[in-house]
Amino acid sequence: MKRARIKFAGREVEFVDRDVAVGQLGELAERGTWVVHIIYGPEGCGKTALLMQARAILEDRGYHVVYVNPLAREVGEMLQYSSPLKRAVKEAFKLFPEPYSRIVDVAINIVGEAMRRLRRPRLAVLMDDIFQAIGTDRAEQYVKALLNLIEWPPADYDKIIVLVASSEGVTRERVGRHRWATIRIMWNMARDGFQQLYEQLPGPKPPPEEAWRLTGGNPEMLEGLFRAEWNMDVVVDGIVGERGVAALAKRWSNVLWRVVEDPDHLWDWYPDTEPLIRGLVQANLIVEVWDRKPHLWVDVPPPERDVELGIGRYYAWQTPLHREAVRRALR
Ligand SMILES: Nc1ncnc2c1ncn2[C@@H]1O[C@H](COP(=O)(O)OP(=O)(O)O)[C@@H](O)[C@H]1O
Ligand SMILES: [Mg+2]
Repeated sequence: MKRARIKFAGREVEFVDRDVAVGQLGELAERGTWVVHIIYGPEGCGKTALLMQARAILEDRGYHVVYVNPLAREVGEMLQYSSPLKRAVKEAFKLFPEPYSRIVDVAINIVGEAMRRLRRPRLAVLMDDIFQAIGTDRAEQYVKALLNLIEWPPADYDKIIVLVASSEGVTRERVGRHRWATIRIMWNMARDGFQQLYEQLPGPKPPPEEAWRLTGGNPEMLEGLFRAEWNMDVVVDGIVGERGVAALAKRWSNVLWRVVEDPDHLWDWYPDTEPLIRGLVQANLIVEVWDRKPHLWVDVPPPERDVELGIGRYYAWQTPLHREAVRRALR
């Protein structure tokens, strides 16, 4: 199988591991998606990388792929597409005076245009971080627009796949309840895959067990630690600063002290903890992980329980560094 080339810690690497997810993508390619598939998971767990790999797999199966990421740092990375879509892209661009500020609309138009131009095409739309970029209210509209394209296409198509990646905690409550979308959760990397990424980093570096213990397998945290020359404080301070951790810590200090030890205390004291759970989910600090049934997950679910990594049966810290950020705010 072709492995996508992706950027990691300032170098180009081959997409590693995630074999189960790769198999799932192969199955999707056979069937197409009848609804919009949303991939929700911790920030930095590897959703964008997976979409890059999805592109490679799907092109291999004869799909034409449009990828958009409104939050990409460079304009060139906001829109990527398979070359047979060039004409459709050109036409769609004509409709918008400032296409890059409306890139999600542009992508939807590209797909419509491609349906009209190509004979029974296989099309895939990969939307990265659109919820964060345009807000969940409008995201719902866009997902519906995508579904319309599936259900009422302007011309006949062979198969269509729509994948939307999101790390916004509100995703599940906002779009999870609709019939037009299914949500699957993606977790951080498993130990082996993580090790393969770790090995690509030049030394000096801490032993792999320590990198694992700190990041819980989150590749972006690994990258962050590497960039900070393995100074954990730099990474943790970044998390504390970002998301209202201090306010949560002040309001909930009694409970949070225990949740830092074991996230399942959120469940023990439910429903009193409900507003705290919501705050932690929305701040992208924890994820609800009740159900480990494989079909609810992209790739493999986290272990049943690993208290050292902050993973409980019901709730999990996104990474040990997120938990550490809260611990520091409590002090
Ligand atoms: N399976 C993988 N193989 C190689 N690099 C990966 C893999 N998963 C993630 N990465 C790298 O780790 C970093 C964080 O992953 P990313 O896909 O950006 O996370 P997310 O989109 O979930 O926030 C990126 O540099 C990405 O290229
Ligand atoms: Mg991403």
